[in-house]
Amino acid sequence: MNNEQIDIIKIGGSIITDKGNYRTLRKDQLSLLSKELAKWDRNCIIVHGAGSFGHTIANQYSIHKGFTDLDQLEGLLQIRKDMLDLAEIVTSNLIQNGMKAISFQTSAIVYEKKDGSYSFFFDPVKKALSLDLCPVLSGDILFSEDKGFRIYSGDALINLIVQNFNVARVIFISDVDGLYLKDAETQENKLVDFITSKDFEITDISKLEQKDSNDVTGGMKGKISAIISILDYVTKVVLVNGFHPERLALIREGEKFIGTSILNENST
Ligand code: IPE
Repeated sequence: MNNEQIDIIKIGGSIITDKGNYRTLRKDQLSLLSKELAKWDRNCIIVHGAGSFGHTIANQYSIHKGFTDLDQLEGLLQIRKDMLDLAEIVTSNLIQNGMKAISFQTSAIVYEKKDGSYSFFFDPVKKALSLDLCPVLSGDILFSEDKGFRIYSGDALINLIVQNFNVARVIFISDVDGLYLKDAETQENKLVDFITSKDFEITDISKLEQKDSNDVTGGMKGKISAIISILDYVTKVVLVNGFHPERLALIREGEKFIGTSILNENST
């Protein structure tokens, strides 16, 4: 069926790679996650991040700032190759664990136009879904009419996907338990297990900490801005820690889990 609701699952680069060490994979972690994802009971698109397969070189060559000099092209090509390798590793691992995973290159199907909007070609991804395959995409380089190129995060890609697919939930798997906010009474940071889109919008994101200076796509702050836009199109966004894959099983089964659920106000 073509318009069946799907889930989008983002595997953060911080889970499947060691972000501080160039091209260092966390293979065991990837396998544990793949085992859980193989049991997912709804069709899904998997979007994986780059971790140290993308951010390190992007920083080194300022790829995220757009084209300024020819020396950057070396870095651009290296990132594309590294992301190709990571996509192959992730997709093969998912297949080994029983998923019908098929990889699509983001930078080949999305393009940034002069006015900042995108042209894209998702028809093959939609057809793959209708055949019960699981499309795998990723954060990537992005060609841009105005800037030449830039970096395109998995979260920004998800923002585009939710506008063009029938998506029920977006599940962000990262290296933190979820969203932490200061408790008004105790002034201590507390994990929020449930919040609605309305409460979420008034949360001051400028106060959220930016832990990872190596992250060219904005870390947690970037993620929160992306989530606010994504919530216009989906029922629910879930944040969960990928170092505890058993929590994914609880989410799948609709059980209580440690993490944050953000519900679209209009769908309650
Ligand atoms: C970044 O994608 C893409 C590149 C740097 C090539 P993401 O921003 O989604 O990656 P992670 O999850 O933070 O590693």
